[in-house]
Order: sequence, then C-alpha cells, then structure tokens
Amino acid sequence: MIRVLFVCLGNICRSPMAEAVMRDLVEKRGLSAEIKVDSAATSSWHIGEPPHKGTMAKLKEYNISISGMKARQLTVADFEAFGYIIGMDASNVRNTRDMLGQPDHPKIFRFLDLTPHEKDVPDPWYTDDFQETYDLVVEGCEALLEKILNK
Ligand code: 4NP
Repeated sequence: MIRVLFVCLGNICRSPMAEAVMRDLVEKRGLSAEIKVDSAATSSWHIGEPPHKGTMAKLKEYNISISGMKARQLTVADFEAFGYIIGMDASNVRNTRDMLGQPDHPKIFRFLDLTPHEKDVPDPWYTDDFQETYDLVVEGCEALLEKILNK
C-alpha cells in the first residue's frame, strides 16, 4: 500500500484540494486499493472544519468528490504512516520537517518540485484565485501519480 499525505498551513484550501484531486485520479486509474490519500495542517487553526467554500466550489465544478474531508493537524505518527509527505509550499515543507523531527528525509518534499514550475502553490486564502491553484494542483497530482507508478 502506498500512502500519500498532502500538507498545508490550514488544511482547508490547498492540501484538501490536492487530496480530492489525487484520490479522483487514483480512482479513475483503478488504483484505489493500492494508493491511499490524506491531508493535514501544520497549524491547529481549522481542526475539524470542512474545506474552504472556494475549494469545495472548485471541486464541485469539476465533479470531484469532497465527501468526508475534515481538517486535522499533522502528528509525529504521520512520518511512519505515509510514504510521501508533500508540502504545498516551502514553508509547509520546513514546518513539516520541524514537527516530524526530520531535517532531510527525501520522502518529505515540495509538491510543485515534481513539475517544471518548481514553485510554491499559491494560497487562495490570500489570492482568492482558486482556479490558478486548482490548475497547479491537477498538474502536480498527475506528476505525482507518474512518479509513483514509475517507481
Ligand atoms: P491553506 O490556506 O493552508 O491552503 O489551507 C490557509 C487557510 C487558512 C489560513 C491560512 C491559509 N488562516 O490564516 O487561517
């Protein structure tokens, strides 16, 4: 079983969007039994909340299921539980490494470093541009699935 964890600051905008898009891609490829997907926050600010309404609206627009998603905070147990721990931006990666006590493990990395963009996923909490974030999330998830399948 391959387990993927997306991490952002609040776990209500970017990482749940990546979780939902990745799960959808995995389902469409018939790989749901092999690849599990989850997401978490570095902060405790939104624990228990559903995704941001902008994230939910964007996922609904593309017919991607949002059922059952609730924000949770990253825990030290996540390091052993997941094979891929992916920060949506550089500060998410830094904070994840600090919280897990893992300064250099390669399974913790920045999402868009899998793509030619090699940049942070813009945070729609601040930009209000959920389309820009969605497009980059789709690109990153496709690259991640290729990476996993080529392993
Ligand atoms: P996210 O976006 O990390 O993509 O979920 C944010 C959500 C909430 C806040 C900041 C960013 N906040 O300041 O509450």
